[in-house]
Amino acid sequence: MDVNKVIIELENVRKEYHMGDNIVNALDGFSLQINSGELTSIIGPSGSGKSTLMNIIGCLDRPTSGSVFLEGNDISLMNDKQLSRIRNHSIGFVFQQFNLLPRLSILENVETPLMYAGVKASKRKKMAEDALNKVGLGERISHKPTELSGGQKQRAAIARAIVTSPSLILADEPTGALDTATGEIIMNLFHQLNNEGRTIVIVTHDMEVSEKCERIIRVRDGRMEV
Ligand SMILES: Nc1ncnc2c1ncn2[C@@H]1O[C@H](COP(=O)(O)OP(=O)(O)OP(=O)(O)O)[C@@H](O)[C@H]1O
Ligand SMILES: [Mg+2]
Repeated sequence: MDVNKVIIELENVRKEYHMGDNIVNALDGFSLQINSGELTSIIGPSGSGKSTLMNIIGCLDRPTSGSVFLEGNDISLMNDKQLSRIRNHSIGFVFQQFNLLPRLSILENVETPLMYAGVKASKRKKMAEDALNKVGLGERISHKPTELSGGQKQRAAIARAIVTSPSLILADEPTGALDTATGEIIMNLFHQLNNEGRTIVIVTHDMEVSEKCERIIRVRDGRMEV
């Protein structure tokens, strides 16, 4: 793992939303560098632009202006197919509400990104089982999401995020729907994944969560607070 290599670079990124005659400046000139291997938290009030920032870093959305580089590649030069390939292979996403597919078992949920990546069935199952073992859910693989606790659902979602071995994990309020003790278990899991060399960015409202990260980025009104 190439530590200190810049993995994410934003230069003067703006994101405007047009709402009738109003323009919302969700990101108002945001510049940022994140190095490979960092564990970073992004904290700021509701509406300050945190999710917008994560969506842009995660190639789920494009900026109105400014540049975004992922591993040195300018994403504005990529077409939608190339962006979806980066999302599928290089980034793992974790969300507040877990976003597990309710009709699928936990194992099938974790296999989903591998299906999109074209991994064949037998290999997929083994990789998904390995990821579930890693998050301590090896015993629950045939359960449906509704049959799990909140913390178990989030561990399943983390297994899904790491199953393709992405270099970058983006988590938007991953402990927001969990009680404090369960949130701590999830944060310990992120620390473990970070110790293995993964770059992790966590959006949170919670100072206790952000203080457990080596780096804190504060966002206010679409800008980085310094
Ligand atoms: N699709 C959209 N259309 C219009 N405005 C939007 C859209 N998405 C976000 N916004 C606006 O952009 C601003 C930033 O929103 P964002 O979701 O990034 O905030 P946030 O920091 O994630 O807030 P929270 O902590 O509540 O999740 C807000 O003023 C929001 O209303
Ligand atoms: Mg948000």
